[in-house]
Amino acid sequence: ILPLIYAVVLGYLFGSIPFGLILTRAAGLGDIRQIGSGNIGATNVLRTGNRPIAAATLVLDALKAVVPILIARHFWGEDAARLAALGAFLGHCFPVWLGFKGGKGVAVMIGSLLALHWPVGLIFCAVWLLIALTRKMSSLAALTAAATAPIFAYVLASERLAIVVLGLALLLFFQHRENIARLLKGTEPKIGDGKKAG
Ligand code: G3P
Repeated sequence: ILPLIYAVVLGYLFGSIPFGLILTRAAGLGDIRQIGSGNIGATNVLRTGNRPIAAATLVLDALKAVVPILIARHFWGEDAARLAALGAFLGHCFPVWLGFKGGKGVAVMIGSLLALHWPVGLIFCAVWLLIALTRKMSSLAALTAAATAPIFAYVLASERLAIVVLGLALLLFFQHRENIARLLKGTEPKIGDGKKAG
């Protein structure tokens, strides 16, 4: 049991590094929590107009799940790897360093899926892209990709992975509750839209 606890803690420590906040601050773009939706994720970083910093946020937020998953798998096996993914997700969404007010978990879910079962990760990205390109809404793309991911995990991988992915998807939906309310009201901003998301 101890290795499993190590895996969750390791995941949490990596996951709680707020790259969106760090990079935007380092680039002199101000506090990302005061911009757009106030979220620390890549979608909101894009609202600053700085594409390279938004891309770097996406990649680093995904990598902060990949790294602890690979470490946990190497030392403690596949169950630990899955728990490291959960830890990274919790760390990103509820970072102790930011008073437990973190991100929404999309990039972390991408990194987790790619590291746990890459075909499921690629499908998540494909669904995200399809919805993002056709509907131009990052949140809707993420919610659709997350809703379908447990099914793909079940069909292509295992019931165990499907349960973990379902857990990540439920947390992702919970973190998107304001976006869901805006989607239902028809007020969710489009990708790259500079206007305030509330
Ligand atoms: O990556 C989070 C995305 O799905 C929504 O972000 O800033 O529009 O709330 P945001």
